[in-house]
Amino acid sequence: MLKLIIFGPPSAGKGTQAQRLSERYGIPQIATGDLLRDAVAKQTPLGAKIKSYLDSGRLGPDDLIVQLISDRVSKPDCAGGYILDGFPRTMGQARELDKMAEVDIVLNIVVDMERLVERAIGRRTCGQCAAVYHVSFNPPKAPGVCDKCGSGLIQRDDDKEDTVRNRLRIYMEQTAPLLEHFRMNDNLVDIDGSKGIDGVFDQMVEAIERVRA
Ligand code: AP5
Repeated sequence: MLKLIIFGPPSAGKGTQAQRLSERYGIPQIATGDLLRDAVAKQTPLGAKIKSYLDSGRLGPDDLIVQLISDRVSKPDCAGGYILDGFPRTMGQARELDKMAEVDIVLNIVVDMERLVERAIGRRTCGQCAAVYHVSFNPPKAPGVCDKCGSGLIQRDDDKEDTVRNRLRIYMEQTAPLLEHFRMNDNLVDIDGSKGIDGVFDQMVEAIERVRA
């Protein structure tokens, strides 16, 4: 059983690492952003409620997000654990998570602001399987085509520079204060996110192996 949180500001590399850790440990990645974008694309009732939040980079209402996660973690594929990517993001969500589960480790990716903007603006995502690329730092083999499933790559609507900076501001105001909460739970590990994708992954695996030892 392994339950972990990948924490950090927008575009720090949470999704990139969560996908790799999911393959390595055989547990699902639960990415709130992907679940919400999927709901919008499928025009579900949740999608209709959440679309304006996603477009502007504001956080969705806690009750909707907590319900979404609570439903997801009770699915059978989560019996051996899971990776939370993008949850919790407010103190209210963190308190609800504490009631729901005991998390083994919180991996906090630390990256400076300008690097975050550069990562967001160059990001390309597979519209089909949600694989993540970067035009310079992690390009696909053929431009615009997903290596994993061959579908077309898209640029997220919220990766325009103004919206990215708004998401970073919201992170500093509403999400970064959670670090203190995790520190009190004594399961927070800082990861140097300025390294390349492999270097960040190696640090994460080392930290996970330490808590499992
Ligand atoms: P979400 O999709 O979670 O967005 P985010 O937190 O802003 O995170 P990102 O997906 O932007 O980045 P990431 O850290 O996963 O980085 P990635 O691996 O892609 O949320 C979107 C929206 O949904 C929110 O704004 C909000 O509206 C709503 N929402 C979501 N969760 C919510 C919640 N809990 N409560 C309320 N609302 C919620 O990498 C970024 C780029 O950098 C890629 O191009 C990648 O290839 C590249 N890269 C990654 N690592 C490296 C590296 N080490 N070196 C160089 N390049 C790298």
